[in-house]
Amino acid sequence: MPLDAHRSTPLPVASALSHTSPTDPGFPLVQRRLLDLTGIDLDAYKRPQMMRRLDAILARCHLASLTALANELKPNSEVLKEFMERFTINVSECFRDKPRFEQLQRQIIPEMAKRNAALRLWSAGCSYGAEPYSLAIILREANLTRAAITATDIDPKILAAAKAGESFTSNDFRNLTPEIAKRYFTVTPTGTFRATEALRPFITFRQQNLLQPPPGKDFDIVLCRNVTIYFTEESKDQVTQHLVDALRPGGILFIGETETIHRPQRFGLTLRSTSFYEKAG
Ligand SMILES: C[S@@+](CC[C@H](N)C(=O)[O-])C[C@H]1O[C@@H](n2cnc3c(N)ncnc32)[C@H](O)[C@@H]1O
Repeated sequence: MPLDAHRSTPLPVASALSHTSPTDPGFPLVQRRLLDLTGIDLDAYKRPQMMRRLDAILARCHLASLTALANELKPNSEVLKEFMERFTINVSECFRDKPRFEQLQRQIIPEMAKRNAALRLWSAGCSYGAEPYSLAIILREANLTRAAITATDIDPKILAAAKAGESFTSNDFRNLTPEIAKRYFTVTPTGTFRATEALRPFITFRQQNLLQPPPGKDFDIVLCRNVTIYFTEESKDQVTQHLVDALRPGGILFIGETETIHRPQRFGLTLRSTSFYEKAG
């Protein structure tokens, strides 16, 4: 999926001239409104990036202050839509970080399925679905038809796209062989690609904020990749604790290529190999 494919037109250069600050009296108003409307907590984000994104939203929405922004934050408003686009970055692709995804396919899933073929997987921060549909391909190819995937995201719009499963482009498939792409995706009249029925029964979609308790327990594998990059260390820890709470003992947490968990033993995790952590069991 090309960067910003789910977004509207690029940001005007004027944003560089704005200068919002957390001490601005409008800031707590925006923070409260956003938390109430979406569950997004601005305190969870690293300050410099977060303020830059607020500047961008002010410029794009032609608003002069954070107080004006707070007043415009209403359900279904354009300003709220802009917020969701700036704060939930939806870039993804199938089998993202291919070597690690292949390790999941060749080693981790078969090993776990020996213990119990009715595997339970959670794709946390699933964006438009490339990750959970990749998992469904693995399960389908291994004939693990009793396995189930829960796919969650905070952004209802992107979750609807994931559920529809038809906004894929050829960029999503660069890590797939042509045979697999052809087997599991069909072209739509608009030229995008749609996941076939063979993958759909595996996946249940639901909205979920990772700063809130998890959507279930006893998952065998939890994937949370490229979701918390701009979060503060404190919020990252909070998310990690929720992910660990969702795993069964001996379960695996699979994180993004550029991510690490500092002192994983704090969460009862041990690093098994790059990107994979095991919960003490
Ligand atoms: C860059 S995408 C990652 C997609 C996929 N995991 C991958 O690695 O390709 C990040 C996703 O995390 C979601 N997200 C951001 N903050 C979140 C939160 N607090 N709770 C749940 N999802 C969140 C965004 O809406 C976005 O769809």
